[in-house]
Amino acid sequence: MRPDEILAADKRHVWHPFTQMRDWCAEGHEPLVIARGEGAMLYDADGIGYLDGNSSIWTNIHGHNHPALNAAITEQLGKIAHASFLGLTNGPAAELAARLTGLFPPDTLTRVFYSDDGSTAIECALKMALQFWQHAGKPERCEFAAFDLAYHGDTLGAASLGGIDVFHARFARFGHRTHHVAEAGGLNDLDPKRLAAVVIEPLIQGAAGMRTWPRGMLRELRDWCDRHEVFLVADEVMTGFGRTGKMFACEHEDVVPDLMALAKGLTGGYLPLGATLTTERVFEAFLGDYAEMKTFFHGHSYCGNPLACAAALASLRLFEEEHTLATLPPKIARLTERLAALREAHPTHVGAIRQCGFIAGIDLVRDAASGEPFPGEEQTGARVCQAARRHGLLTRPVRDTLVLMLPLCATLGEIDRAVAALGLALRDTLSGVGASRSEPVDQHPTIS
Ligand SMILES: Cc1ncc(COP(=O)(O)O)c(C=O)c1O
Repeated sequence: MRPDEILAADKRHVWHPFTQMRDWCAEGHEPLVIARGEGAMLYDADGIGYLDGNSSIWTNIHGHNHPALNAAITEQLGKIAHASFLGLTNGPAAELAARLTGLFPPDTLTRVFYSDDGSTAIECALKMALQFWQHAGKPERCEFAAFDLAYHGDTLGAASLGGIDVFHARFARFGHRTHHVAEAGGLNDLDPKRLAAVVIEPLIQGAAGMRTWPRGMLRELRDWCDRHEVFLVADEVMTGFGRTGKMFACEHEDVVPDLMALAKGLTGGYLPLGATLTTERVFEAFLGDYAEMKTFFHGHSYCGNPLACAAALASLRLFEEEHTLATLPPKIARLTERLAALREAHPTHVGAIRQCGFIAGIDLVRDAASGEPFPGEEQTGARVCQAARRHGLLTRPVRDTLVLMLPLCATLGEIDRAVAALGLALRDTLSGVGASRSEPVDQHPTIS
């Protein structure tokens, strides 16, 4: 299909996520058609290149079109793309389970349940926790605690843990009974004997606008859960696989949860795959004679998909071969430095900047001195991100928080360019200085 045919078919037949489709389908709206990728770059159908400023919605780790990931997927494709995981197993899924559990201290997270994405990995964790307490003779432990502004996915169970009104309010009453608290101390107002689990995005809440937790909070939560015999579920869907500077965010506070949800970067951002990791204690509570009905009757058609698991194995190998985690400290430091310069250059409209490892959230405000926000309907964050495209950067904001989350393979030069593009977009959008198009090719010599 030619680009114009793609757009016509899309506007006629596709329904996009999180998108007001009337705006999308409007005559003047010309969505970008992504045709290929290379490293931290995405290229549109006209060959114009853009830095992938949100790692393709927080998934990509080692870069696009990576030869090692391509080869692993192709090799697996030459054998088999998919076979059921119900009553059968396969090499990549078994090996990946062994490799993933090996990333945690011995005898902690020892079991892996596969699903399709972050939401389904969370669903599994919630249902495992609920069923565990039924087996343990404590069915009254059937409620959850989650945090204000949390985001754990869009399936109904995961959405009922969510704390972002615009996404979750209309569905909350259809899902799990969930108590929302503002911070760990708020748990003391709940009856812990009714809780199956506390669920948290460790260190940083993504969809809330890259909102960071105070240092020590996760450890405090682990201790609270231990004291009250409540499960701790760590949602590392966004934070997993190096984003925070360590393999998992929980490592920053030496915490091992009872259940952990992984997805997004699990396959290096190449294929959909979710995994719920848990302990032998949880696993063993589901063992028994079939007639005891302790089986976890839950699964998905593509559980343990060999292609996705092969990609995940290749991604883990790359972490070792390319020393991915060891390359991060200078990049994280460079990001800190560039973001500080951005604030200095835009003192009026850049408010708080939050950084957690290689993840950054930049608040835009009408007036940084008073903290006055822009009116929501002006969609300032979206307009700035739209302007950033003209300067060779693709990203999406969370309301008026700009998100910068480059693939971990991004070079120091690419970090500089990404932050520079945000600065130019701020100038174009907010300071009334001409919004003239600066051709990406002038800004970025590597763009074809
Ligand atoms: C922390 C967290 N949990 C869960 C999810 C849901 O993952 P998915 O979109 O793969 O279902 C997301 C998605 O952004 C997330 O950020």
